[in-house]
Amino acid sequence: MFPSNRFKNKRLLVGITGGIAAYKITELVRFLVTEGAQVQVVMTAAAEQFITRTTMETLSQHPVASEMFPQNRFAGTHHIHLADQMDAAIIAPATYNMIGKIHAGVADDLLTTIVAALQCPVVLAPAMNVHMWENPILQRNLNELRQLGYLICEPEEGFLAEGYHGKGRLARLEYLLQYLYKALHPQRDSLKGKKVLVTAGRTEEPLDPVRMLTNRSSGKMGYALAWEAFARGADVTLVHGPTDLPAPMEVNDIPVNTAEEMFQAVREQFSDSDIYLSAAAIADFTPQAVSDKKIKKREGEFHLPLKRTTDVLQYVGENKRSDQVLVGFAVETDQTLENARKKLERKNLDMVVLNNPLEAGSGFRQDTNKATLIHRNGEIKELALMPKLDVAYEIFEFLKQHLKSKH
Ligand code: CTP
Repeated sequence: MFPSNRFKNKRLLVGITGGIAAYKITELVRFLVTEGAQVQVVMTAAAEQFITRTTMETLSQHPVASEMFPQNRFAGTHHIHLADQMDAAIIAPATYNMIGKIHAGVADDLLTTIVAALQCPVVLAPAMNVHMWENPILQRNLNELRQLGYLICEPEEGFLAEGYHGKGRLARLEYLLQYLYKALHPQRDSLKGKKVLVTAGRTEEPLDPVRMLTNRSSGKMGYALAWEAFARGADVTLVHGPTDLPAPMEVNDIPVNTAEEMFQAVREQFSDSDIYLSAAAIADFTPQAVSDKKIKKREGEFHLPLKRTTDVLQYVGENKRSDQVLVGFAVETDQTLENARKKLERKNLDMVVLNNPLEAGSGFRQDTNKATLIHRNGEIKELALMPKLDVAYEIFEFLKQHLKSKH
């Protein structure tokens, strides 16, 4: 899950409809509140069959709205005030019925009436039985809603409440957030039509069947870049080493293990890409030979001969077209600016993102990073310590001017 300042002080409407996945929205609301968002939960009558209003009021720290004409309270234009205030909305789970109503323009309870009046981006996260999901009426409704600008966060395949497998499970929390991040993005879809290739995470170089050489990279920075490119509407390909992070939604996901596999994957994908962001911590060396049997311990020293791997970014820099944009990462602990600039020149980059892992809050496995962005035209932007997703935003903003001149 990526924290981001993007959610801070944002007014978000979370609409819950009557599906068994309603209980999962507790986690979504909790995360958003932790991130500093102001969350207004609206529940349908059916949703209250699955989860209590008290639960959602406690987690959102705000009264839940559910009735069009609440007793003991002036209703008036309450629904319009709620709709007017919002920066983004998400309906999750969105039932077959709710999607049908929104599609048909029905406004017969508080939630559908608010949706009818919303001016902000709306995410729909359907969850239902696989046969309902596959129903052509629903698919037609979703396609048309997509064309009208609704963001559809599709359900996942897996074990359904009915006791069998199929597509229809509510998208996991990370995916709901990926969509909400997109809904809130000020540059949403600004890279539509562009192809972005990102590498992320570590590589693993096998030594024998049980051992390998690797590093501490978690993949978070590369995955944050993939989220950011997705929010900007690009076609994203993510080549990544082993990681615990779930593959982002609607991204061409290419898992690899070794530096050589990463090189081959990038080589295949690169010519088709407009922007290449090389965030992976690719091994510089790999064992000269891989033993097919476990290497047994013995007395004395053990020397492990290593050989160089291909420098993927160097290769790409030497083979790029002039319309392609290359972004490299430089991890430096001393003479940082000077070394990063040299790397930019040597690898023929447009931009380099400099990190010093010795700075507090920066580096591997952290959710935050303190980066300096260096452009080949000499421009430098020193960023404050911020969540990696916000660093990803700044990287694309920094590139924006340059992209204009190249494309
Ligand atoms: N990189 C790559 N292929 C490799 C090693 C690194 O494409 N085999 C990329 C990384 O993804 C990163 C950049 O090169 O974008 C910088 O990597 P780094 O290892 O920090 O720098 P090096 O160029 O290897 O130089 P040095 O080890 O001297 O710092």
